[in-house]
Amino acid sequence: MYIQIWESYFSSPIKTLLNLGGMNVLDVGCGPALWIMEMATFFPLSNFTGVDIVQLYPHDCMPKNLDFIQANILDGIPFENESFDFIHIKDCLPYFPGKLSKEQVFSELVRLLKPGGWLEIIEFEGKMYNAGPNSDFLYDKLITVYRNRGINYVQESVPQLFEENNLVEFRREDKIIKYCEFDFALQVFLDTFKTMKKTILEFTSIEPEKYEEMLSNSCRELLEYQTSFRNTRFYGQKPSKFETI
Ligand SMILES: C[S@@+](CC[C@H](N)C(=O)[O-])C[C@H]1O[C@@H](n2cnc3c(N)ncnc32)[C@H](O)[C@@H]1O
Repeated sequence: MYIQIWESYFSSPIKTLLNLGGMNVLDVGCGPALWIMEMATFFPLSNFTGVDIVQLYPHDCMPKNLDFIQANILDGIPFENESFDFIHIKDCLPYFPGKLSKEQVFSELVRLLKPGGWLEIIEFEGKMYNAGPNSDFLYDKLITVYRNRGINYVQESVPQLFEENNLVEFRREDKIIKYCEFDFALQVFLDTFKTMKKTILEFTSIEPEKYEEMLSNSCRELLEYQTSFRNTRFYGQKPSKFETI
């Protein structure tokens, strides 16, 4: 879904260098490693490392220029300072909802980044625009479930974190995604609410049949109301050590 929305793998200005080769790229919270597997395949002359606290990444059929390590970013990622030219972290910051933990994550990312290297963060906003009554109700319950699990959308705090960590050339790109234009977004919505049904029902007084009815009404509403959501890429550069003349 991500590539269909963005039509590119990153926004930082690094494509030429990745093609030239020798770039070190880190994907933090890589999950099942879809992004980094494709990146390693497209840029065979650069080196890629995926890190996650859980081993969801594959163990075989890996491109030669790709490695994985299991680590908790809050304990530090076991690499020397200034090891990476590009660090990518997608859909992970909600797992660090407190200010302190986000600051800890950021200072670790900046420690690992080479001077002149780029950090790119991709996050959903966690809001829907023009939602109908059924989707509004269900989405609100989903966000409550996430919050109770310590997962909070944090998009609004990201620009400040770039600034506090003295990253330069800060930019953001937003994509507003309408369900009526992306069928796969509707499918993800449906799958998420099917998967979360049991948990959401524990938080509400609605009956399972009513939940199913609301869910199918929601899908119709998302199209009818032209409901949308926002996904954002934030990126910035660690200042180079060279003095400007
Ligand atoms: C929503 S998934 C995103 C996975 C992947 N980036 C993607 O976009 O498909 C969030 C990932 O962050 C990882 N994660 C959460 N806390 C972490 C931590 N403290 N250190 C490293 N990874 C962490 C989770 O295990 C999970 O794989």
